[in-house]
Amino acid sequence: MKKDLPVGVFDSGLGGLTVVKTMKKMLKGESIIYLGDTARLPYGTKSSESIVRFSFDNTKFLLKKKVKAIIVACNTSSATSLKKLKEKFDIPIFGVIEPGSKQAADSTKNGKIGVIGTTATIRSKSYQKALKSIDGKFRIFAKACPLFVPLIEEGWTDEKTTYDVAEIYLSQMRKEDIDTLILGCTHYPLIKHVIQKTMGDKVKLIDSGESVALWLKNYLKKFNLLANNPNPFYHYYLTDYPQRFKKIAERFLGEKIDFIEKIKLGD
Ligand code: DGL
Repeated sequence: MKKDLPVGVFDSGLGGLTVVKTMKKMLKGESIIYLGDTARLPYGTKSSESIVRFSFDNTKFLLKKKVKAIIVACNTSSATSLKKLKEKFDIPIFGVIEPGSKQAADSTKNGKIGVIGTTATIRSKSYQKALKSIDGKFRIFAKACPLFVPLIEEGWTDEKTTYDVAEIYLSQMRKEDIDTLILGCTHYPLIKHVIQKTMGDKVKLIDSGESVALWLKNYLKKFNLLANNPNPFYHYYLTDYPQRFKKIAERFLGEKIDFIEKIKLGD
C-alpha cells in the first residue's frame, strides 16, 4: 500500500539528520530513506546551477527507492531548487524555508528576526522573501555562516573554536535586538547550544527541520498516507563515506545505525 512506502529525505551531509531525528519522534510509524550527498558537500558555497543539478540527482535516487514523499532537508537546496523540483517531479516534495519562516513569524513579538545560513541560502534571499510575504513590516537581519558546516561535519560541536567562530559571526546580530533567530541550515541544530549561548537565552531559535516534519505529518494525515508500521526501517545512503560520519550521526541520533551504504548517483 502506498502509505507503507518510506519517506525520502536528502541533504548534502549530516544536516538532514536533524530532520530525521524529529521525524522519528513525530512520525513513529514511518520508514525513512536518507541520502547524504557527502561527496559533493558543502553545497552552500557552490553556484545555484550546481546545487540544482545535485538536487535533481538526489531526487531521482530517492524516486528509484520508491518513496511516497520527499523532504529536501537542506536549506541550500530548498532555496535554489525546490520550485524546479516540484515542477519536474510528480511527487509531494517539501522544503524547509516556508515552514521555518511561518514558525518564526508565529514566534516573534517585536518583529525583528535573524536568519543564518549558508552563503547560497542567504544570497538567494529566500527567507527574507518568505518572511516579508507573511508580514511586510518584519525587520530581517541575515548573515551567512559558512564555517559552521565544516566544523559540524568534523564533529567539532563543543570545541572552543566553534564558540569563537560563532562569536565572530553573531556578535553584530546580538546587537540588533532580534527576538527570533532562524537556523536556516539543517546542520546548525547540531550546534544549537553554541548558538543559543552566543545569542543569549532571550532569543528563540527556530529549527526549520522541526517545522517541516510537522508539515509532512499534516500532509500525510490529510491524504490518509500516514504509515503505522510497528517496525519502520531507516536506511542511510551516502555518496562518500567519511570515517567519522557514522560515529557523529549515531551520537546525534542517540542510537545505532544498522544500515548505511555508499552509493554512486546516476547508477
Ligand atoms: N545542510 C545544508 C543546509 O541546510 C547545507 C550544508 C552545505 O553547505 O552543504 O543548507
